[in-house]
Amino acid sequence: MAHTLGLTQPANIEHPKISFAAKEIDVAEWKGDILAVGVIEKDMAKDENSKFRNSVLKKLDGLLGGLLAEASSEEDFTGKAGQSTVLRLPGLGSKRVGLIGLGKSASFPASFRRLGEAVAAAAKNVQAGSVAVVLASSEGLSHESKLSAASAIASGMVLGVHEDKRYKSESKKPQLKSVDILGLGTGPESEKKLKYAEDVSSAIIFGREIVNSPANVLTPAALAAEASRIASLYSDVLSANILTAEQCKELKMGSYLGVAAASANPPHFIHLCYKPPSGSIKAKLALVGKGLTFDSGGYNIKTGSGCSIDIMKTDMGGSAAVLGAAKALGQIKPPGVEVHFIVASCENMISGTGMRPGDIITASNGKTIEVNNTDAEGRLTLADALVYACNQGVDKVVDLATLTGACIVALGPSIAGVFTPSDDLAKEVFEASEVSGEKLWRMPLEESYWESMKSGVADMVNTGGRQGGAITAALFLKQFVDEKVQWMHIDLAGPVWNDKKRVATGFGIATLVEWVLKNSS
Ligand code: BES
Ligand code: MN
Ligand code: ZN
Repeated sequence: MAHTLGLTQPANIEHPKISFAAKEIDVAEWKGDILAVGVIEKDMAKDENSKFRNSVLKKLDGLLGGLLAEASSEEDFTGKAGQSTVLRLPGLGSKRVGLIGLGKSASFPASFRRLGEAVAAAAKNVQAGSVAVVLASSEGLSHESKLSAASAIASGMVLGVHEDKRYKSESKKPQLKSVDILGLGTGPESEKKLKYAEDVSSAIIFGREIVNSPANVLTPAALAAEASRIASLYSDVLSANILTAEQCKELKMGSYLGVAAASANPPHFIHLCYKPPSGSIKAKLALVGKGLTFDSGGYNIKTGSGCSIDIMKTDMGGSAAVLGAAKALGQIKPPGVEVHFIVASCENMISGTGMRPGDIITASNGKTIEVNNTDAEGRLTLADALVYACNQGVDKVVDLATLTGACIVALGPSIAGVFTPSDDLAKEVFEASEVSGEKLWRMPLEESYWESMKSGVADMVNTGGRQGGAITAALFLKQFVDEKVQWMHIDLAGPVWNDKKRVATGFGIATLVEWVLKNSS
């Protein structure tokens, strides 16, 4: 393998698989390291004798001779969301009892995802190997809700346990091996749901890891290699075609190649295709992701505080969502749907061969663009990627991109902006996001703002000033989409990155997979 700049090689860390099982055994019977109980505030109510009214807590407290009631009140545990306490108590088959607060009432799927994350944190703290999770009151939940709660708990646990240690010189192995989910259904249906949660979660971990990888390691060639690896892992349903710069030139992708021109790391245009193992195809979809492995801004270099140049390795977050979805779908193999995964990957750098502000470039649909800002590079790469996607004969295209700082200003760090002329497509994707729990907000495609994107000499400029910057960016993309194709643009510049923890989130994957499944038969 070639040396990377800085001689860094990520460690090849195996993620020990956590095995999940849905069981209907009594809490008193369970044996292991932590028995975690999800409680809402009402569950903590006591009767006139200071005993729990809730039957699960009452039973545990009885077995512990009243210690659970005593200890939880000493710890001021009231069941508020975000509260959790783990108590080492004698007298049970379980070494420890954990109480995890869900707040006034539990909401789908966010509360259960957070419950899973809190249990994962508790398990890490005490290096637990086996854990059980139970809800203090699950009687009110429908059969369907129980299954959804179980799968949200499972994803929260897998994602909560995961820590990306590939770039640390030392790391401890996670100890957690088995998780029993009690009282939320058993049997084939629940196993299927848990398997789905695991497939999507491991795709999210893959997505997080490629976003976390620095630009000296994750070059466009390395991103293409990751994509090819996924295709060969699921070669029964996925195929890969990686186009070189030369091939992109033949396809007249002047807009994409203009962005790539300054970098010593050559561009790689990634195209994976999913076809179901058998049966006819009723919907053809494309997922297009922005794949800038680094965005320096180019000659309009990112300077000054707040420009975030230090996290511009994350500028391939859209492509991580797309390739993560490919991995999950390769595993799930839904029938009746064909999916194209497209990433025009490159690096936005500065050099004598690079694009200058004021240059006019020509995209593969023949449209000309006056580049008035080299830092608005994502839309230039997406232009050719969208033309290519529409040429695959698809019915619907969704693109995902860390496209604008303006979208972060508008919606903050954890909500993605959605732009689409199609109410039908909006409905599909928003329904998918309700299941995934990822936050999306629809934004207007205000055509009158196109005024600011007009050039005196070319068909358009690539930036229209500060006002409504996320909207003008979306209007720019629209110029490269076939009118017969339903199209949506998702600006996920904020939610791809967790600024507090300084790690990637894997945002977008869960929603994309849900959406593709909606389109399958
Ligand atoms: N990759 C950036 C957008 C971005 C900024 C993502 C901050 C995450 C955090 C994009 O290529 C960019 O530079 N956009 C410019 C557009 C402007 C020049 C019109 C921006 O948002 O400032
Ligand atoms: Mn930029
Ligand atoms: Zn960018």
